[in-house]
Amino acid sequence: MTPPKAVTLSPAPELPEFDRAPVLRVRAMPADTNPAGDVFGGWVLSQMDASGAMTAARRSQGRVVTIGIEAMKFHKPVLVGDELNCYCRVIKVGRTSITVDIDTWVRRYLTDEPHHVTEGIFTYVAIDEKRRPRTSDTWGWHREDEHHDWS
Ligand SMILES: CC(C)(COP(=O)(O)OP(=O)(O)OC[C@H]1O[C@@H](n2cnc3c(N)ncnc32)[C@H](O)[C@@H]1OP(=O)(O)O)[C@@H](O)C(=O)NCCC(=O)NCCS
Repeated sequence: MTPPKAVTLSPAPELPEFDRAPVLRVRAMPADTNPAGDVFGGWVLSQMDASGAMTAARRSQGRVVTIGIEAMKFHKPVLVGDELNCYCRVIKVGRTSITVDIDTWVRRYLTDEPHHVTEGIFTYVAIDEKRRPRTSDTWGWHREDEHHDWS
């Protein structure tokens, strides 16, 4: 197996760009909490994973699987009622992999108060119907697509 190179998180934006559409926007509900009433880190992580997978699937024009998560950090808690927004940016395309930088921001319940709650770098591998890695030269996107905002 090819070991991945270490990557570092890019600086987060000063403020969330709530005017820009996130890849995923969802409200944290009571069912997403642990017995102490805090929202599970695993729930937040799964929202990030799903948004990164959508980004990678669009970029590779097909099915993807998560292979690694790096540089994950939970900066602040997510509270019940928060509106969670996942912003994704493709930062690397390899032979079969796509690496996506994901920033998550919340707006607290019924306010416009923004909080940068998590960030992480998720890597996906493009696979075919037999779960074999697909190489980027087969993804069927064109050179002019490089200028498109795939996020
Ligand atoms: C995806 C899978 C088919 C890849 O097979 P593999 O033999 O492990 O593949 P490789 O070692 O050749 O690695 C494939 C790519 O992933 C990258 N990679 C491997 N381990 C990685 C890690 N820990 N973090 C980031 N990238 C990683 C490699 O650098 C390579 O990238 P490149 O082709 O762009 O150069 C296989 O690992 C698999 O099925 N894993 C399970 C996926 C899964 O179930 N995910 C959870 C549910 S979605």
